[in-house]
Amino acid sequence: MKMFTGIGGLDKMLKGGIVQGRNILLSGPCGSGKSTLSMQFLYNGAMKYGEPGLYITLEETKEKFYADMSEFGMDLHEAEKTGRFTLIGGPIAGLRGYMDRVDASIKNLTEEIEEVVKEKKIKRVVIDSVNLLTMLSKDEDERRKALAMISNSLSSLGCTSFFISETKEGSMDLSRYGIEEFVVDGVIVLYLVRQRNKFIPGITVRKMRGTNHDKEIRYYQITNKGVEVYPQETVFTNIR
Ligand SMILES: Nc1ncnc2c1ncn2[C@@H]1O[C@H](COP(=O)(O)OP(=O)(O)OP(=O)(O)O)[C@@H](O)[C@H]1O
Ligand SMILES: [Mg+2]
Repeated sequence: MKMFTGIGGLDKMLKGGIVQGRNILLSGPCGSGKSTLSMQFLYNGAMKYGEPGLYITLEETKEKFYADMSEFGMDLHEAEKTGRFTLIGGPIAGLRGYMDRVDASIKNLTEEIEEVVKEKKIKRVVIDSVNLLTMLSKDEDERRKALAMISNSLSSLGCTSFFISETKEGSMDLSRYGIEEFVVDGVIVLYLVRQRNKFIPGITVRKMRGTNHDKEIRYYQITNKGVEVYPQETVFTNIR
C-alpha cells in the first residue's frame, strides 16, 4: 500500500506515494525546504487522510516552528487539537535536556518514541534531523547502528518515516555523514543549483526500494502553500 504525501507533484514522481512502513531519507542544503516538505507529509496525513503524525525535532522551538509552518497554511495548534499531530522536542523543552542526561542512549530514545507511537497510533514520523541520533553516537559504526535501530523500530510499528539530513551547499552528497542513504529504503534529495545570480531548486527521487519512480531532477518551488513540485519540468544543470 502507498501513502500519499499530499504534495501532488511529488506523489506523481513517486507513482502514487511512499510504500507504507518504509523509511525515507530527505536531504538537502540549508533552506531548501526539508522541514516544510516533511511537515506537509505529516499535516496532509493528519488532516486529509486521518493518519496521526509525530514530528521529532532538536533544532527548533515549538513556538517558532508553529509560526513558520503557519506561513504555509498549516495550523499546527489546530492539528494538535485533533489528536492527530504530536511534536516532541525543541532546544529547551524535553529533548535537549533528555539528550544531556547521562543515561541517554539510542535504546532509551527508541523506546520512548515507540511508546508515543503506540499510545497515539502514529502512522507517519519525521525526525528532524539525523543529528539527533548522531549526538548519541561515538563513531560511524555506532551512527549506522543507531539509524538502523530506530528505522527498524519505526518500520516494525508500521510507521512511514522521513529522516532529515543536511547536505553541504553545492555538493552532490546524498547525506551529511555519507552512511544514511545505505540504511534507509528511499532517498529524496533537494538541490539548490546556482545559475548566475540565482539558485534553481531541484528535487529527485534518488532511490526507492520496492517501487518504480521518476528518475529525473524536477523543478520545485517554496510558495505560501509550502513545497510545490512540478513533475513535468526538468532542471538542466551543469553541476558535477
Ligand atoms: N511564505 C513563504 N513563501 C515562500 N517561501 C518561503 C516562505 N516562508 C519561508 N520560505 C522559504 O522557505 C525556507 C525555509 O524552508 P525550511 O525551513 O523547510 O528549509 P530547511 O531545508 O528545513 O532549512 P534548514 O536547513 O535551515 O533546517 C526559507 O529559507 C524561505 O526561503
Ligand atoms: Mg529544517
